[in-house]
Amino acid sequence: MKKVTCFSDKHYKIGKIDKKLYSSFTEHLGRCIYSGIYEPGHPEADEDGYRKDVMGVIKELNVPLIRYPGGNFVSCYDWKDGIGPKENRPKRMDYAWASIETNEFGIDEFCRWARKVGVEPMIAVNLGTGSIKDAGDLVEYCNHPGGTYWSDLRAKNGSPEPYNVKYWCLGNEMEGSWQAGHLSSEDYTKKALEAAKIMKWVDPSIKLIACGSSYEMLPTYMEWDRVMLTDLYKHVDYISTHYYTMNSGQGMANFLASYKQLDNHIKNTARVIEYVKAKNRFNKDLKICLDEWNVWNFQDIKLKSLDDLQELTTFEMTSADKWEIAPPILEEKYSLLDAIVVGGLGITILNNADTVEIACLAQLINVIAPITTVRNGGLFKQTTYYPFYMLSKYGHGTAMKAIVDAPTYSTEFGELPVAEPAVVYDEEADEVRVFVLNCSQDEDVEFRLELQGYGDKKVKKHLVLTGDNLEARNTIDNPNNVVMKELDVSKYPDTNVILPKLSWNVIILG
Ligand code: AHR
Repeated sequence: MKKVTCFSDKHYKIGKIDKKLYSSFTEHLGRCIYSGIYEPGHPEADEDGYRKDVMGVIKELNVPLIRYPGGNFVSCYDWKDGIGPKENRPKRMDYAWASIETNEFGIDEFCRWARKVGVEPMIAVNLGTGSIKDAGDLVEYCNHPGGTYWSDLRAKNGSPEPYNVKYWCLGNEMEGSWQAGHLSSEDYTKKALEAAKIMKWVDPSIKLIACGSSYEMLPTYMEWDRVMLTDLYKHVDYISTHYYTMNSGQGMANFLASYKQLDNHIKNTARVIEYVKAKNRFNKDLKICLDEWNVWNFQDIKLKSLDDLQELTTFEMTSADKWEIAPPILEEKYSLLDAIVVGGLGITILNNADTVEIACLAQLINVIAPITTVRNGGLFKQTTYYPFYMLSKYGHGTAMKAIVDAPTYSTEFGELPVAEPAVVYDEEADEVRVFVLNCSQDEDVEFRLELQGYGDKKVKKHLVLTGDNLEARNTIDNPNNVVMKELDVSKYPDTNVILPKLSWNVIILG
């Protein structure tokens, strides 16, 4: 059996874990909103048409913040279409996903839903086809107490109290040619700076998130960030970046090692932030907002790999019939293997808790999501629900430095240890929680924890995501095919545990 030792000392900390690391994202895309969040007439719909069964699962996940309304959608969206009496709202072509947007659900419906579910909204403004004035008007509509055109209209539309939306994204993936109204870094910087000024004039308390680089295959990767940050650094609070990985025939070892690719990507972003800060003698720190991350296997998209994305609009990517209302697109069916990889990405996010303050699993319902609903029917939890749930349940307190002494395996991201851990210390519960990805494909691993300074700790719980069939999936008829399993820890000597081959583990010590 392979042997791995993991060392952690209570004095060696990465940083405090912000609860916003377990955030998510809902876009007007496919069935995320319509028949995901909102389905009037559904047996589970409440008086506002929100599905109570969906709200229940989101509350169980304890999601602190949700980004809305896109994604690529936002760059084609006029938020003013989605307010006022529903019968007057126009149906529009959404160029991003080649769908019809009915506008039945808009900013009021989202903010009221967010309140009911107990999540903080994070709103993206349209800096593609939208104007900087539209962005200012939206902040006024959401946050100004009253006595002005937009704030009084909000009251007339049923919400006298302001929504006080704190987090605002200055556009979405503006670096990419697939984005409606895509701009060069220089042009984006000018537009985002003017939007930021107006938005902060309307409400100085808001936090702004600037678009950074997301895709390594673009020639502007990271140079975009350097140019943009040079002028925007002082005016924003976060830099946004996205990361998706896919199982596209790169081989099991490389797919499992996606956590390392994400680690490289986060560190690249952090390095540019540090460079711009140093070069310009800025004092404040900027945090990373990883506002889209996931495994996305492009199961219903015509692309072979993410590299083919260049020069395509998302309109051209989808295999759905064009101009349908809420077509069932991007409804990935996640496997056990995908869930193990998602767990690995979660480990990387924790290990970068010093630079990443917000992270949104993209997305939450139906579209590349951990929750799948049936129109006029029930719902089930995809395999990827489980690592996300575990992270959000146990990943609190301080992220600790973890050093491993382990055999390695070869990947396109270098020689990596067979087991990749994230160690968390929850001071309140006085528990050490270890999330660990076991990439050993042929045999189990003996995993020994060498803890220093935490007092006498024993393994109390060991939960694992593993199985013989890596292609196993959950469905509406077989919803519990893949779940976390609890192992018997009574026979574990001290702080040694056995990690099953190819598994994602949660170990609680107290
Ligand atoms: O989450 C799906 C899409 O992925 C989003 O609309 C876009 O921002 C990203 O490319």
